[in-house]
Amino acid sequence: MNDDRFVIEGGVPLRGDVQISGAKNAALPIIAAALLTREDVVIDNLPLIEDIRHMLELVESLGAEVELDELEHSVRIRARRLRSYEIPAGLARSMRASFLAMGPLLARAGHGVASQPGGCAIGRRPVNVDVKGFAAMGANVEHDGEAYRIQADRLVGARLYLDYPSVTGTEDLLMAASLAKGRTIIKHAATEPEVAALAECLIRMGAKIRGAGTSLIEVEGVGELYGVHLRCLPDRIEAGTFLVAGVMTGGDVTVQDVVVPHLDPVIHKLAEVGALVEEGETWVRACATGRLQAVELQALHYPGFPTDLQSVFSTLLTQCDGTSLVHERVFDDRLGYVKELRKLGARIRVTGGQTAEIDGPTKLRGATVRAADLRAGAALIVAGLAAEGTTEIEDIYHVDRGYEQLDTKLRALGARIERMGAAARAEPVPV
Ligand code: EPU
Repeated sequence: MNDDRFVIEGGVPLRGDVQISGAKNAALPIIAAALLTREDVVIDNLPLIEDIRHMLELVESLGAEVELDELEHSVRIRARRLRSYEIPAGLARSMRASFLAMGPLLARAGHGVASQPGGCAIGRRPVNVDVKGFAAMGANVEHDGEAYRIQADRLVGARLYLDYPSVTGTEDLLMAASLAKGRTIIKHAATEPEVAALAECLIRMGAKIRGAGTSLIEVEGVGELYGVHLRCLPDRIEAGTFLVAGVMTGGDVTVQDVVVPHLDPVIHKLAEVGALVEEGETWVRACATGRLQAVELQALHYPGFPTDLQSVFSTLLTQCDGTSLVHERVFDDRLGYVKELRKLGARIRVTGGQTAEIDGPTKLRGATVRAADLRAGAALIVAGLAAEGTTEIEDIYHVDRGYEQLDTKLRALGARIERMGAAARAEPVPV
């Protein structure tokens, strides 16, 4: 955590190509999966962001050796022996993904201890799906309100029906089931590309998994998993953020090195508001060619419109003609950014629960605002880029959790954005 802030002089159309980094939410479970084997797991295209550093710290604290090559964006993890089964409380509280280590700990070592995980304040974030699944696979679960103590000599495959298609839950159970005895069926599984990417990693490590990426996954447990060398999936949320920022500023941005079908919901919505969108095999380009129109947006689980882009896209809706309707259907408190966006002049009403109405187009004007969480911060940056005058965004450490070099990448597209504060002062001066 640091006291850095971004200062943005808005009003410059963003133009050019931007290289998309590896996906935070794909890399996090794969780092956890490295705990499942004694052999080396090498991840290329690793995003160098705070959450990834914390996850590496976590697996290191459990006994893994971690060699991070920052220049190559690559990490080698070797968990020959585990020396602890307790997820450090500080890391657990700061990052929900910390609970992703529980599945591997149970599968490999037979027990695990973890505090109730925390993370961005965007609503309730229980781990019931994971825990109920472990219990159905024979684990003994103790929860004293503070910490989970889970133990299982050998997990046994089971037929699981998930109450909710939780991303972390599905990933935890996939990892646990890979080394369990016998067959596990996961019904109502999360279908996010990051879940499919984890399954692909596990398959390459020797797991027997069918159906990942669909809501019905079958896992035949194996006795051992092996090392793997893979490339992390590109970040569809980072890509969507840049595309929206391009359109929002009246610019023309192309995101490079993406998996285009993963961006379908964003491409579809950008086209619906009236942006010009083109796509190639590994790139997507979006620009605004005229007036934009209001739409209805529902944030859902995949392949619905991603909740992680709901705030960013809502910002764009302030520039669309008419009244847009936004409905957040994944998290129960993910409209917190609205009051900050209003300080820039946005006309948004939260109309009850997780729905909002946005009137547009509105001329946004610079103001001082605060990033309350990762995606709220991204939305405010996008708004600041389009606003007239100076916008200052405080608490951008939230943004550093999930976007790699966001300010540097934006500057390369023409944005006037500077990082101010202690971390900025500590950055080496280029010679
Ligand atoms: N839920 C339950 N019961 C559970 C688990 C979840 O009801 O046992 C509910 C939650 O309350 C929430 C919804 O399900 O309302 C979604 O939770 P889920 O478990 O699917 O999300 P997650 O695994 O905590 C991941 C991403 C999030 C992303 C969501 C939805 C990671 C590390 N995080 O979270 O990413 O928003 O899936 O796609 O993969 C972000 O990157 O900013 C971020 C928050």
